[in-house]
Amino acid sequence: MQEIHLTAQSHNSVIRCGQGVFETYAPKYKEGQFFIVTDSNVFALYRHLLWETFGININIKILPAGEKSKTHKYLFEILKEMLNCGMRRNCTVIAFGGGVVGDIAGLAAALYMRGVNLVQIPTTLLAQVDSSVGGKTAVDMCGVKNVIGTFYQPQEVLADPRFLETLPEKEIRCGLGEIVKYGALDGGIFAKLTENKNNLKDLRFLSEIIYRCIAHKAKVVKDDERDLNGLRKTLNMGHSTGHALELYYGKKSHGEYVLIGMYFELFIARKLGICTGQYAEELKSLILSVIKKIPYYADLEKAADYAKFDKKNNDEKISLIVPKALGESTEIKLGLEEYVKLLKECGGGL
Ligand SMILES: NC(=O)c1ccc[n+]([C@@H]2O[C@H](COP(=O)([O-])OP(=O)(O)OC[C@H]3O[C@@H](n4cnc5c(N)ncnc54)[C@H](O)[C@@H]3O)[C@@H](O)[C@H]2O)c1
Repeated sequence: MQEIHLTAQSHNSVIRCGQGVFETYAPKYKEGQFFIVTDSNVFALYRHLLWETFGININIKILPAGEKSKTHKYLFEILKEMLNCGMRRNCTVIAFGGGVVGDIAGLAAALYMRGVNLVQIPTTLLAQVDSSVGGKTAVDMCGVKNVIGTFYQPQEVLADPRFLETLPEKEIRCGLGEIVKYGALDGGIFAKLTENKNNLKDLRFLSEIIYRCIAHKAKVVKDDERDLNGLRKTLNMGHSTGHALELYYGKKSHGEYVLIGMYFELFIARKLGICTGQYAEELKSLILSVIKKIPYYADLEKAADYAKFDKKNNDEKISLIVPKALGESTEIKLGLEEYVKLLKECGGGL
């Protein structure tokens, strides 16, 4: 078991990772008032574990599984049920699930009585390496992702790889998208990933890499909690193009689009002479070891239009975080026309 102390400006978090952290640290929450938020899939798989750990009479909100539950409607349902259950200011909200549950439960914890304790127990790979750490909480509105939200740090994160044993392969690939992104930002993670390129889905390997990814994110969040000085936006590598393709095509998981976005953005970085040589080849091969095939996109021009709305842009230009060298990235800004031209040159269809 490993521990990371995240000293953010607003609030400190302790992040515990490794096999056994759930059974060691979760039971203490039954000593106080607590409210669990989970989703229908996770509840079906782990209800006995929840009952064993917290007792049969738990206050719990079970959301329908999937992104469609990340709305103000369900947010207010959670808040109403917390009130009906008599939750007080010193209660703890326990987010037990993937990134959807973590984001909406985090926002509920931030709003209820102006803020109550929050514990994140992430059960997907993506939530363990990314969304449960760093305090971003949100719901979607009118089809716009994460448009209502706030920064609210959990007091504790329990990232236990035991939950990955039931995770479908597609969701493992989704988490690997974010893990490869960390590899492009951190030389140590990159070396581990390339050494284990044929073994990335192995649960023992994942348990080790989860800690390293969280440690990288915690370092970034400590120095730029509110995304203000440019450091935190490096975590968005691959996301501008990935997100645009996700919004237009929307058939794959978020993490797979991050990988596809990284593939296109690496091509752009090579074309512009920013990232070259053996490292660029190795990164491309790492991306392709997870995603295998980059689809051919016939409508790149229309998809690219969605990149205009990316939060990183602060003028007309498209901002991209691109790989530069081992453990180094940089921000570039491209006009829409040039961006589309480069995407088309890259093409996909590999
Ligand atoms: N807050 C942040 O910093 C941040 C960062 C990245 C992504 N996100 C958000 O995270 C969300 C995506 O998270 P996600 O990929 O975890 O999706 P998710 O929460 O929808 O989970 C994916 C699927 O896996 C199922 N599942 C969860 N745990 C399981 C388990 N242990 N075994 C079997 N099935 C399980 C879920 O029911 C769901 O069907 C998006 O809404 C995204 O905006 C937030």
